Amino acid sequence: MMIKPKYHVFICDGTKCNGKKEGICANRGSKNIFDKLEQLIISNNLSEYVLISSCGCFRNHISERGPNMVIYPEGTWYGGVTLLALEEIVKSHFMYGKVVDKYLLID
Ligand code: FES
Repeated sequence: MMIKPKYHVFICDGTKCNGKKEGICANRGSKNIFDKLEQLIISNNLSEYVLISSCGCFRNHISERGPNMVIYPEGTWYGGVTLLALEEIVKSHFMYGKVVDKYLLID
């Protein structure tokens, strides 16, 4: 049986309602963000605790801060996520449960 993950991360892949991947997150490298987070989860042995899914655009006014992601169950929204930001988020948020304030999109 699969263990229920502690965190479920949704990373916007920039897909708009018309089905086209033309959102800001896509233009700013959301695919690289997804791939890098997946690598970090594996290399830090967090695969049983953190599940990652891609999703479509959250909303237009949120897109401007992309690449964006949201972490459940607590509903932490991060924006302007860079490869460096991911390393901080993995080490702080996923390993110690501490939100990284400087990347908060909505608090
Ligand atoms: S394109 Fe990512 S939130 Fe809109």
